Amino acid sequence: MNAINPSPRVAAPLALLAELTHRCPLQCPYCANPLQLERAAAELDTATWLRVLDEAAELGVLQVHFSGGEPCARKDLLDLVRRAAERGLYSNLITSGVTLDAAGLAALAAAGLDHVQLSFQDAEAASADRIGGYRGGHARKLAVAPLIRDAGLPLTANFVVHRQNLARLPDMLALGEELGASRIEIAHVQYYGWALKNRDALMPTRRQLDEANAAVEAAQARLRGRITVDYVVPDYYAALPKACMGGWAQRLINITPAGLALPCHAAETLAGFAFPSVRSHSLAAIWRDDPGFVRFRGTAWMPEPCRSCDRQEIDWGGCRCQAFAMTGDAAATDPACALSPHHHLMAEAIAESDNAAANLVYRRLRAPEPAA
Ligand code: SF4
Ligand code: FES
Repeated sequence: MNAINPSPRVAAPLALLAELTHRCPLQCPYCANPLQLERAAAELDTATWLRVLDEAAELGVLQVHFSGGEPCARKDLLDLVRRAAERGLYSNLITSGVTLDAAGLAALAAAGLDHVQLSFQDAEAASADRIGGYRGGHARKLAVAPLIRDAGLPLTANFVVHRQNLARLPDMLALGEELGASRIEIAHVQYYGWALKNRDALMPTRRQLDEANAAVEAAQARLRGRITVDYVVPDYYAALPKACMGGWAQRLINITPAGLALPCHAAETLAGFAFPSVRSHSLAAIWRDDPGFVRFRGTAWMPEPCRSCDRQEIDWGGCRCQAFAMTGDAAATDPACALSPHHHLMAEAIAESDNAAANLVYRRLRAPEPAA
């Protein structure tokens, strides 16, 4: 058996995920945001976000990802981007793009934004608009992608894939190439937050997964040296778990719209944790000492079989939120691991989805109209 690490080292986080707001014109059924969204009135104010960015830079954070919801819904986005640049933080805007225009993008670039990640729901407009719950959304994204490049900003085209759009994965790869993306991200749905409600409707079949793996592999070979193709595989078909977040509280700190600091974007789903607020605690103190951050950092917390496993510092026992969602115990080995005593739950969930004729469940009852 491997020795238990008594005092895990605390290196600075690499990245800050700044969830500026839960407001969003889209309503993707695989949204990782919590079931209960924060209202605009509960959001952190500008001064607090500026302080958080200062503290992040002091702590040694290198990158800030402005996310949501839709981060462009925040009126102070330019001020936050400017502060990040002043503090030497590499900044990435994770956006649906539907509210962006040339002037807005030029202003963001002038404020020091480094990169834009534009999300797509499909390669085909009718399906994309249905999945995102936003009529005309796909056309807007197609129009905004060249504007991002015109503003001199590198573009990542992000496609979340699942049972309802995987048939068009080759078209998505072609679209990313056509739009001049420097990176294409193909990400299978991860089942946290609202996505878990839609698991039966979104789970890919084995055949779809095999075809997707082959299509991505071919694109990676074809585009090598020109476009990076990242691929996030679905845990439910895996034999080894992913190193979720690069290890709990090791690489990323997540701030919710209301100011809670979390070791990952889904950590609020875990029962029995009271995560601290940046309104009352410094980022450094939270990162170093908060019991929720310390709880699963390193390897000392691990049960068997992780405790005896030579992959414990490779995948860090997998995903705590998935372990909790599937077993009720956040300290269990991730059921994605073939060595987990709960691994059978993955196959059972796949079988359940194969037998279900599930419809997508949206947060709002009706799809909203696009903004004027
Ligand atoms: Fe990773 Fe634990 Fe599985 Fe080993 S037993 S591969 S450490 S999840
Ligand atoms: Fe929370 Fe994986 S999503 S640890």
